[in-house]
Amino acid sequence: MIVFDNVTKRYPGATTAVDGLSLVAPKGKLTVFVGPSGCGKTTSLRMINRLITPTSGSILLDGEPTDRMDVALLRRRIGYVIQHAGLFPHRTVVQNVATTARLNGVPKAKALKEAHELLERVGLTQSFADRYPYQLSGGQQQRVGVARALASNPQFMLMDEPFSAVDPVVRGQLQDEFLRLQREIGKTIIMVTHDIDEALKLGDQVAVLRTGGKLAQVASPKVLLARPADGFVADFVGRDRGYRFLSFAALDGSLALAAEPTVALGASPEEARGAALDRWVLVADAARQPLGWVDADALREPIREGDLNLSGTLAPEGSTLRHVLDAALSSPSGRGVVVGPDGGLLGTARLPEIVAAIEDARAGAAA
Ligand SMILES: Nc1ncnc2c1ncn2[C@@H]1O[C@H](COP(=O)(O)OP(=O)(O)OP(=O)(O)O)[C@@H](O)[C@H]1O
Ligand SMILES: [Mg+2]
Repeated sequence: MIVFDNVTKRYPGATTAVDGLSLVAPKGKLTVFVGPSGCGKTTSLRMINRLITPTSGSILLDGEPTDRMDVALLRRRIGYVIQHAGLFPHRTVVQNVATTARLNGVPKAKALKEAHELLERVGLTQSFADRYPYQLSGGQQQRVGVARALASNPQFMLMDEPFSAVDPVVRGQLQDEFLRLQREIGKTIIMVTHDIDEALKLGDQVAVLRTGGKLAQVASPKVLLARPADGFVADFVGRDRGYRFLSFAALDGSLALAAEPTVALGASPEEARGAALDRWVLVADAARQPLGWVDADALREPIREGDLNLSGTLAPEGSTLRHVLDAALSSPSGRGVVVGPDGGLLGTARLPEIVAAIEDARAGAAA
């Protein structure tokens, strides 16, 4: 856990970079600092590993004030990813990653072996290991930076715009890989970005800072979207936040599902019309896995595979309300098909029930 307790940083010449910042970055969670350029994000990050000294206030690591710790020991506990990777240009990729372990006195062979493993974890194959940083793309260099910060297995990670130097597609891939990795390693991370979408996607909690280094709001992505503290946060979170909230609202037991009758492949038109709630009937296999919708009124022959259309109408339980809303809107019957973890049919959801679940989720986020 990292705690900011009323931390202020004033630079000579009266710039207040960070103004009375108090917040908790919980253990094993990813906290994102987001805000406009110059709002004090980097300054806040660098005060944690004491590259910058606060003017007042204190920062605690697992309850211990950092200003009383030995600086070298403090930095050893914290992996630090700086913008544009900041790799050593005259060392190969694998040597870059092994640097921290070597500084910590790990024998060379062991450090190199671990470095190779870390490179694989961030998605770089062995063919990259012996290249120099200039022989890598920006995104690959950033991965090396992440691998280097993970070396020696620090408890804490500070990441300053770690995915900024790449195009949106690669950026999305790096974010996905990083989320997967973090689910596995569960480090206490503070990440800086000025991209609100990245913050909402990656953060367990998001701290929005405003110019002048004041904390505007710290909350989960869901709460930030549903209940921005003020106009500044609402504007910063941006357009469509009402819809985007739905991406963070889980499709769970709060949605009332209706039982949906099903027929099998090969069912006759009469059978299909007899089973259907309206003209649309759902076809499922013996394991109750939905195969598709059929227009029973238009059916002249027993149901064949070619008659089926399931496209976009399926929402797995545990996905999001956005997903099931889209499933209902995409379904010819207006009913979204909800399936369990085994792919078996749980029931269908229509717009009124989905809207009711959305209202519940909104009320929950406000509480
Ligand atoms: N060494 C310094 N001396 C004086 N002012 C500084 C110094 N370093 C930073 N500042 C000022 O402090 C404020 C916060 O800077 P900081 O680098 O923390 O911003 P940031 O939020 O990381 O911005 P960006 O998104 O552009 O990286 C800015 O107004 C900056 O000009
Ligand atoms: Mg910065």
